[in-house]
Amino acid sequence: MAHADARGNIQNIEGPLTRSAVFLVLRVRGRASGSAPDAGPGAEIATVRAALAGLEDLVKTVGFREPRARLTCTAGIGDGIWAPLFGERKPAELHPFREIAGATHTAIATPGDLLLHIRADREDLVYELERLILDALGGAVETADEVSGFRYFDARDLLGFVDGTANPVGRDLPEAVLVGEEDPAFAGGSYVVVQKYLHDLSAWQRLTTEEQEAVMGRTKSDNVELDDAAADEQKAHKTLATIEDEAGEHDILRDNMPFARPGAGEFGTYFIGYSRRLWVIEKMLERMFVGDPPGKHDRLLDFSTPVTGSTFFVPTPGMLSALGE
Ligand code: HEM
Repeated sequence: MAHADARGNIQNIEGPLTRSAVFLVLRVRGRASGSAPDAGPGAEIATVRAALAGLEDLVKTVGFREPRARLTCTAGIGDGIWAPLFGERKPAELHPFREIAGATHTAIATPGDLLLHIRADREDLVYELERLILDALGGAVETADEVSGFRYFDARDLLGFVDGTANPVGRDLPEAVLVGEEDPAFAGGSYVVVQKYLHDLSAWQRLTTEEQEAVMGRTKSDNVELDDAAADEQKAHKTLATIEDEAGEHDILRDNMPFARPGAGEFGTYFIGYSRRLWVIEKMLERMFVGDPPGKHDRLLDFSTPVTGSTFFVPTPGMLSALGE
């Protein structure tokens, strides 16, 4: 089986849904100011290499103190920083996030060289690991975006719906998420796309429960799937986000988290999707933002606006530790 070897060597992409998470997007200094990609490793790149090589040890340093809290960290590498870190050969589909402009809503692209997705059942461990990683990176990076997420009741988003039900499980999970024999040099890695969405909660709350359910495609209280709309009619979010071709349905793994600052009127969902195939997530975004048929966009977007959008590749831990050699 193609994935059997790779599975022992992944960065906890398949980590469990936890009670807390931090999504940290960083830019490597010096590169943003337009230094050529082949300028060779500068001081910042050397620091980033050392920090990534030491990541697994840092996770142990913190996680060992409370194993039941299931601390994990997944590091993603952006297209712009790939060559200075790993050389010219890069994962087949890796490229910067491509903006998708529909008639009404746009999935914007925002900068990001590194993604750190830190998860645990205790917020103090998440904080501690984030602090130590940023210490190791020092002045080599600047923060592009930082979001602390929390689990909301039975894994609901702040719109009130259970989020994550259709995620692949068991043998379907590595099949959907981990690169395999199609790109052997990067087998066991994964593409990851993040978008930070802000919700207009008051407008959403003005819809009836039935209207909200039609937007999502599931019932709100008991999470039961509704029937798909006819081909030329307004489709629900779950239908627009379903990608099928002759090979069957292509799943992705989502670990979305709510975040909020009610005092500032901020209510959001941090979308994070892992996939073996970047095109699958891009196709979902196209169907959501452009619509299917075009013009009939995902009505979720009338209440949810993306303010970031970045793509990364998650290398295997072996590739990360080799950065220290
Ligand atoms: C505001 C942001 C979003 C919210 C609140 C949200 C919420 C939800 C909810 C409640 C479900 C139904 C339950 C489930 O299966 O998880 C769902 C399904 C799904 N969403 Fe989203 N979602 C968001 C953005 C996205 C984006 C940007 C993508 C992909 C690019 C996406 C992909 C999916 C997929 C693949 C499914 C499962 C479809 C199926 O096979 O039934 N979602 N989402």
